[in-house]
Amino acid sequence: MDIVNTTPHQSSADKVLPHEATVSAPVNIAVIKYWGKRDAGLILPTNSSLSVTLSQDHLCTRTTVCAAAEFGGDRLWLNGVEEDVTASARLCNVISTARKLRAAVEQADSAAPRLSTWGLHVCSENNFPTAAGLASSASGYAALVSALGTLFKLPQSAAELSRVARVGSGSACRSILGGFVAWQAGVEGDGSDSLAEQVAARAHWPQLQALVLVVSDRKKTVSSTAGMQTTVATSPLFAERVRNVVPRRMAVMRAAIAARDFAAFATLTMQDSNQFHAVCQDTFPPIAYMNDTSHAITNLVHAFNTAVGRVAAAYTYDAGPNAVIFALHDDMRTLVQLLTRCFPRPDSMPAAAFYEDPFAVFASPDL
Ligand code: DP6
Repeated sequence: MDIVNTTPHQSSADKVLPHEATVSAPVNIAVIKYWGKRDAGLILPTNSSLSVTLSQDHLCTRTTVCAAAEFGGDRLWLNGVEEDVTASARLCNVISTARKLRAAVEQADSAAPRLSTWGLHVCSENNFPTAAGLASSASGYAALVSALGTLFKLPQSAAELSRVARVGSGSACRSILGGFVAWQAGVEGDGSDSLAEQVAARAHWPQLQALVLVVSDRKKTVSSTAGMQTTVATSPLFAERVRNVVPRRMAVMRAAIAARDFAAFATLTMQDSNQFHAVCQDTFPPIAYMNDTSHAITNLVHAFNTAVGRVAAAYTYDAGPNAVIFALHDDMRTLVQLLTRCFPRPDSMPAAAFYEDPFAVFASPDL
């Protein structure tokens, strides 16, 4: 099973201060979308979801956590700028949940340093522009929880730690694991069964590639958190989606991944993205995340599939206009050529990069 890389800076020197750990976590792209909470405090979703965790090489957050008895309190720097830790209830929840797990370690081992009572300094950096509308909260909370798990030497499995990341941001629980990941909605009121599970390792389907097209780097007008709560409260289509559509789609998507059936995977990915945005449109007042460029990309993907006479490419959009295109390796080069020809970048932008590894990323600011 692949989980995010854990790279402790200093692990053997328990008696030497400071204690620190550095970990990276990648972003993930949902192919069956999470949208809606049944408990906003614990971040318990109304439906299960399924995603693909991208490669760490291109879009990831790298976080260092450091604990010391002499730190007066907790401090956080995001991309070099200090933020107020106490201003984020989610961040405080994540840190206090991890501290409780550490306290249990200390109770079981009286020689373990009392890290659960020390102050924490957290330094977090994205290797992509935070403003680019990509899923930075998912990689951010996944990196923080993985780093705390390493620093605190927590015995919990990656799936168990995903519950802690979930308290930071729902989609973050899926970034704790690599490859194809399902987030089980669960039924328990305390969220104990609402956690991530690896459906298949990345190596299971190396031919599958993802292409990230940055359509706009503007901040979205309606946050996911706010948008999904309005949807739950106002959309009749959403209720139908949760009850009758998603459970069946989760099963079909798992089967498509198991069989490496690209046509089934791609068709369902596009249908679920479309339904998610239809549900946003059915929200009152309506929420429009896609823009004209997004719709033009959608049309181009359908035209490409028609021209080649098979389902060779899929699009998906989260709560913003940026597109993620899935295709098999042999089709991706043609698609990149087509997309760059139809949506040329301004001259000021750097040349497009095309990476060969699975789940590769091609990020082009301002198509
Ligand atoms: C459209 O995880 O950002 O990307 O749990 O409130 O932090 P919170 O929301 P968030 O929502 C992501 C929604 C989505 C779909 C998905 O990733 O499944």
